[in-house]
Amino acid sequence: MESVEQKERYVFLETFGCQMNDNDSERILGHLATMNYSATNDPERADLILLNTCSIREKAEHKVYSALGRYRALKERRPGTILGVGGCVGQQEGSRLLKRLDYLDIVFGTGSIHRLPELINNISRHRGQQEATELTRTLDPDEFAVTPYRNSPVKAFVTIMRGCNNFCSYCIVPYVRGREVSRSAPDILEEVVRLASSGVKEVTLIGQNVNSYGNDGGASFPDLMKMVCDIDGIERVRFTTSHPKDLSRELIKLIAVEEKVCGHLHLPVQSGSNAVLKRMGRGYTWEEYLEKITLLRELSPDIAITTDIIVGFPGETEADFSDTVNLLEAVEYDNIFSFKYSPRPMTKAIELDGEVEHDVKRERLLSVQQLQSRITLRKNRALIGREVKVLVEGKAKAGDGCLTGRTTCNRVVNFAGSEEWIGEVISLAVQDGSFNSLSGIVGGEVKC
Ligand code: 5AD
Ligand code: SF4
Repeated sequence: MESVEQKERYVFLETFGCQMNDNDSERILGHLATMNYSATNDPERADLILLNTCSIREKAEHKVYSALGRYRALKERRPGTILGVGGCVGQQEGSRLLKRLDYLDIVFGTGSIHRLPELINNISRHRGQQEATELTRTLDPDEFAVTPYRNSPVKAFVTIMRGCNNFCSYCIVPYVRGREVSRSAPDILEEVVRLASSGVKEVTLIGQNVNSYGNDGGASFPDLMKMVCDIDGIERVRFTTSHPKDLSRELIKLIAVEEKVCGHLHLPVQSGSNAVLKRMGRGYTWEEYLEKITLLRELSPDIAITTDIIVGFPGETEADFSDTVNLLEAVEYDNIFSFKYSPRPMTKAIELDGEVEHDVKRERLLSVQQLQSRITLRKNRALIGREVKVLVEGKAKAGDGCLTGRTTCNRVVNFAGSEEWIGEVISLAVQDGSFNSLSGIVGGEVKC
C-alpha cells in the first residue's frame, strides 16, 4: 500500500502579517515538502489549506475570520480538504478556536511549525481535531531542521531569534511569540553558507528585537553580523527589527564600517511624546532617540531610516500628537509605517484610560501619512541624476519587460535590462522618483 507520506498532494498557504510570518511560511512549506506536498495558488485544488495568521491589530485578526468563512464554504464542497490555522491567532486562541469552529482540523502555534507533519498524519488517521501550541523556552532543533521553501534566488530572510521580552504596553507579540530565544550562531551561519552556495546574494537577519540577539548566551548581535559578512558570496546583509533602547554604539559603528551591511535602518519610534512613550513602556525619550539618529547620520551620512508610528494611543492629546508630527519633521524619515492604536487582548494598555475617538485616530493617521508622503517623495526626487548601486532581483511587477532591484538604502528601482543581470549588483543613473519607487537607466547621465 502507498504510504501517506509518498502520495503527491497540494497545499494552499495564505500568509498574513509581517516578515517573521513570511519566513515561517517558507519553513512551513519546507516541512510539508518532506511529506510530498507542493504549493498551489488555487485553494480549490488543495488537499491542505493553511492560514499563517497575524494578530498584531484587531483588523488583522478579522481578516483571518473572514478568510476562514470562505474556506468553510470550500470545505463543504470538498469535505476531504484539511483546514488549519497557524501563526499568532493560532497561538493566541489555541483550543478555543477548535471548539468554536468545528470545521477546523488543525491549530498550531508560532513555535510548533515542525510538528505539522505529525498533526496532518493524525488527521489522515481520523484522530480528530489537532492542536500544538506549546511555546518552549528553548528552540527544538527540529524547528529549523528543514530547508525553507524560498521564492527568490537572490535574497532570503533568515530567522535568528524568536519572541520578545519587552512587553510594550500595546503589543501582543510577547504573548503570541513567547520570550526571546536565540538560534545558535553556528546554525545560522550554516544556513547562510548554504544560501550563498545556492547563489543568494543578500540576507536579512530577522527577529522581533534583533539587538537582543545572544542575550540568552552565545555570540552578540554585532559579532553575528560580522560572521555573516565574512561569508563568501554574500554581498549584502540587512537586519530587522531594532529596538531604539537596545541599539548600541557598537552596532551603529558596524553599520558605518562594514561594507556589506546595507545603509538602511528600521528603528520604530512609535510616538514623539515622552508621556506617551512612557505609557507605552518603550524605555527611551524622544531626545535619547534623536541622539542615536544623530550618531547614525554622523557616521553613515547616506543611511536611510524608516520607522513605525502608532496614533491614538490611550490618553494621546493634541499636544502629544503634535510632538509626533514635530519628530517626523525633525528626523525626515525615508518612509514610515503608521497605524491606529488597536486594543489587544492580554496587553497592559487595554486597562489605560483616555480612549481616543475613532474619528480622531483616523484624522491623525491621515495627517502623518500625508506629511510623510511629501517627505518621501521629496527624498526620492532628490536622487534624480545620482548614481545608485542596485542588486537586481528579477522582473518588475508591472510586467512591461522591466527589471527590478533595490538600492542598499532599500529603495525599489525599476529599469530596462537583461535577465542575465539577475543576482548582480549594477550601477544605474536615477531618472525619476515617485513615492513608491525610482526608475533608472544603465549608462545614463549622472549629474552629481
Ligand atoms: N495597535 C497598533 N499598532 C500596533 N503595533 C503593534 N501593536 C499595535 C497595536 N496594538 C505596531 C507597532 C509595531 C508594528 C509592528 O505594529 O508600530 O512596531
Ligand atoms: Fe511588540 Fe515592543 Fe516587542 Fe516590538 S519590542 S515586538 S512592539 S513588545
